[in-house]
Amino acid sequence: MSAPIGYDLIVQQLIPGYASLARLAVALLAASPLAGRQGAAVLVAGCGTGAELVEARAQRPDWRLTAIDPSAEMLAAARQRLGAEGISWRQSSVEDLQADGCFAGALSVLVLQSLPDDGTKLAFLAALARSLEPGGQLVLVDLMAPERSALQRQVGEAWLGFQRASGLEADPEVLEPLTQGLYPIGEARLNSLVNAAGFSDPAKIFQALGYEGFLLQRTP
Ligand SMILES: C[S@@+](CC[C@H](N)C(=O)[O-])C[C@H]1O[C@@H](n2cnc3c(N)ncnc32)[C@H](O)[C@@H]1O
Repeated sequence: MSAPIGYDLIVQQLIPGYASLARLAVALLAASPLAGRQGAAVLVAGCGTGAELVEARAQRPDWRLTAIDPSAEMLAAARQRLGAEGISWRQSSVEDLQADGCFAGALSVLVLQSLPDDGTKLAFLAALARSLEPGGQLVLVDLMAPERSALQRQVGEAWLGFQRASGLEADPEVLEPLTQGLYPIGEARLNSLVNAAGFSDPAKIFQALGYEGFLLQRTP
């Protein structure tokens, strides 16, 4: 994904609670037993334009941050926002990172949703689990597939209403990469994938319409 002009504004108009996602994700990881330690090594997987990095710097200036993204454009936008110093920048997917057991904690915000469920999601999650110390935690935030429920249609309409109320009038070319080619899964499938990847059951911490945040722990 390239960094479209206006990405940061558009995601706020499109994604309910986006402005709080990174803040919540960092606060949650900072309260974890391993990543809570002074100077902990933390991986920001799929850093995009750097929202989680801005929050991590503000809340935990002691963290040793590694920021990765396969997109050169996204990484460049994040580096411009944060400056090159004090963060280890890597243009890489999580799967290609080769950093087994290096991190006390990791953040993955709005990344899994863009990977197809044909082995690619599992490979991504397994690589994240491998990158963590045993007992290390991952905060995963993603668009989830709606469970079959009488409210499903209402939630879909509410999301459109949220976008209208936020004044979303983005150029379709800019909007399309953010709304097309997504592969959300339901909670049962997420459970089975994360267990197969080496995590214990995900604990749901927050939700805004279809966007949900989970805490996962690498099994020892
Ligand atoms: C929708 S953006 C989210 C960026 C940021 N986390 C945020 O919340 O604004 C998804 C990012 O994940 C990156 N990405 C896609 N596949 C990835 C993978 N396998 N490993 C790491 N990052 C990946 C994309 O390049 C893109 O920058």
